[in-house]
Amino acid sequence: FRVDWDLITAEKSGFDHFMLKEIHEQPKAYRDTMRGRISDDSRKVVLPEIGMTHEQIKGINRVHIVACGTAYHAGLIGKTVIESLARIPVETDVASEYRYRNPIITPDTLVIVVSQSGETADTLAALREAKRCGARVLAITNVVGSSVAREADDVITTWAGPEIAVASTKAYTSQLVAFYLLGLYLAQTIGTRDEEFIAGVLGAMNELPEQVELILEQSEVLKKIAESMAKHSSLFFIGRGLDWGVAQEGSLKLKEISYIHSEAYAAGELKHGTLALIEEGTPVIALVTQEDLYEKTLSNIKEVTARGAYVLGVTNQNNQLEVGKSVDELFAIPNTLPLLTPALSVVPLQLISYYASLALGHDVDKPRNLAKSVTVE
Ligand code: G6P
Repeated sequence: FRVDWDLITAEKSGFDHFMLKEIHEQPKAYRDTMRGRISDDSRKVVLPEIGMTHEQIKGINRVHIVACGTAYHAGLIGKTVIESLARIPVETDVASEYRYRNPIITPDTLVIVVSQSGETADTLAALREAKRCGARVLAITNVVGSSVAREADDVITTWAGPEIAVASTKAYTSQLVAFYLLGLYLAQTIGTRDEEFIAGVLGAMNELPEQVELILEQSEVLKKIAESMAKHSSLFFIGRGLDWGVAQEGSLKLKEISYIHSEAYAAGELKHGTLALIEEGTPVIALVTQEDLYEKTLSNIKEVTARGAYVLGVTNQNNQLEVGKSVDELFAIPNTLPLLTPALSVVPLQLISYYASLALGHDVDKPRNLAKSVTVE
């Protein structure tokens, strides 16, 4: 017993839980997932693992991203990344829906399956269905040699390293990095973006690991916020555009390990229902990082504060003074390109979930009723 215990402590490298260790491993996961995939002059993405010819890539007329759980949330960000960089229409589906909705899959559809484990039953079934219809399948997975990796035509491995905690953190952020690399690769191949633009994004991506470190240094602030939020039985996340995608992941993380009821809402949809649930003191986490949607989200924040909500704003340093005026509490993330903000803004949400779970005395790494890998339908 003693040996096992020491072994587990050693595996956690001094952290109290695997989840916290994995949150802290994200800067390394970013570096490892980018390593070798950017040209020496930092002006191009290099992805030899993609076997498609340039002609095949230019012939892609739609992309389907299919995944479950947190990987699906990475796919929501992936949709915007690919559409905005490569201008190819993208749909993102949960695998259990995709399989049964008779999707229109043709040989010029690129199906991207995203799976940390590479073994999720619904995702694997979707991959097989896509191949049966003649589509090319690209997998983004964290496990070399997994079923998904073996059966896909092309594989982008996320080098996050083993993820033990049931709640996914570094796998999700590495999947985001994979989508950025892929989106840029498609854009440079199709010619939708020039080299200067691509170099600019790659430069900003190189800064992400250090920027994540800066967020991690503020863990104590997030711990306090989490402890006060953990006193509530319900919590809402709001945002627009990419912020909405991150809100969905933040809400899932919180539910999974703290068991606090939570919903993520597109900020503009609030008035179509969710606003009825806002009472005096209801906590709302509002993500406000997208420049072009900034004013719109601020007016949605006013809708909830007017009903007594207690709002934590998550924004970038550039906007913190302005956003600070409309919220009760503020957490600022370092400035980066709008497209890259999910890779930073999700980190405080991961930490809030972690500390909320801890404050409530739950088993952070092994939440009730959930499994790390779901290999049955
Ligand atoms: C389970 C896990 C989640 C994960 C999902 C998809 O529900 O608890 O953390 O996001 O499966 O897993 P995958 O391995 O396919 O990414």
